[in-house]
Amino acid sequence: MSKTVLIAGASRGIGLEFAVQYAAEGWRVIACCRSPEQARGWLPADVDVQALDVTDPESVAALGWHLDDEPLDLLICNAGVFGPDTGSFAAPGDAAFDEVMHTNVLGPMRLIQVLAPSVAQAKGVIAVLSSKMGSIYETSGADALAYRCSKAASNMVVKAAANEYGPQGATVIALHPGWVRTEMGGPNALVGVSESVEGLRQVIADAGVDDNGCFLDYTGRNLSW
Ligand SMILES: NC(=O)c1ccc[n+]([C@@H]2O[C@H](COP(=O)([O-])OP(=O)(O)OC[C@H]3O[C@@H](n4cnc5c(N)ncnc54)[C@H](OP(=O)(O)O)[C@@H]3O)[C@@H](O)[C@H]2O)c1
Repeated sequence: MSKTVLIAGASRGIGLEFAVQYAAEGWRVIACCRSPEQARGWLPADVDVQALDVTDPESVAALGWHLDDEPLDLLICNAGVFGPDTGSFAAPGDAAFDEVMHTNVLGPMRLIQVLAPSVAQAKGVIAVLSSKMGSIYETSGADALAYRCSKAASNMVVKAAANEYGPQGATVIALHPGWVRTEMGGPNALVGVSESVEGLRQVIADAGVDDNGCFLDYTGRNLSW
């Protein structure tokens, strides 16, 4: 029987590539996007495209209702925004801060709360796209402060979810995809999107119960929080 993956934020970049690669491998792919009609145009035809705005609690609840407790082998919380690209330490404005934190922190919190039981039922994996920029240990700069703080906070979401849902059968991990050539990563990024996602898929495939609550990069290297 084919496995099922749900990807939040699958309209472009890393999320879209996850959808393409898992569909090519024969998985049932549920690709969730803010503009599903538009995304249908470039997602493979057999992909199930659903509407989802992770900042909207009603949208997350509607997705949960639509899935109706269908077991999920894999949930990928990928939706993210970068926010103000400040070159040095600078507090963002209220609106920018709210957008980044609502998308990158509250988004995975809500998704996991609603969908983790479906993942636990399948003894599956919950993967949250974090970033090395959210690692307090690895941080050497002070730029993009809202983004850095949001990814540090989303790492806590991963740890807490691992504590809650690990004993129920899910494996919850934070992933750093590398610096990837997407709209967010920009043209000078070091890693191509297909290379990053191939690596991330291998890391997810290898993830076992011992990896619950870990922070891994796309090569499988353990990162410090
Ligand atoms: N690229 C990198 O170098 C890099 C490095 C470290 C971590 N990451 C992380 O990897 C993830 C994917 O990054 P990317 O490079 O693929 O970024 P991207 O090209 O900017 O794509 C972001 C995706 O998130 C979706 N999204 C944003 N806000 C959303 C919302 N409220 N609800 C649902 N979907 C939403 C976007 O949908 P729309 O098309 O509707 O805007 C888009 O599909 C992010 O979490 C990012 O922080 C990326």
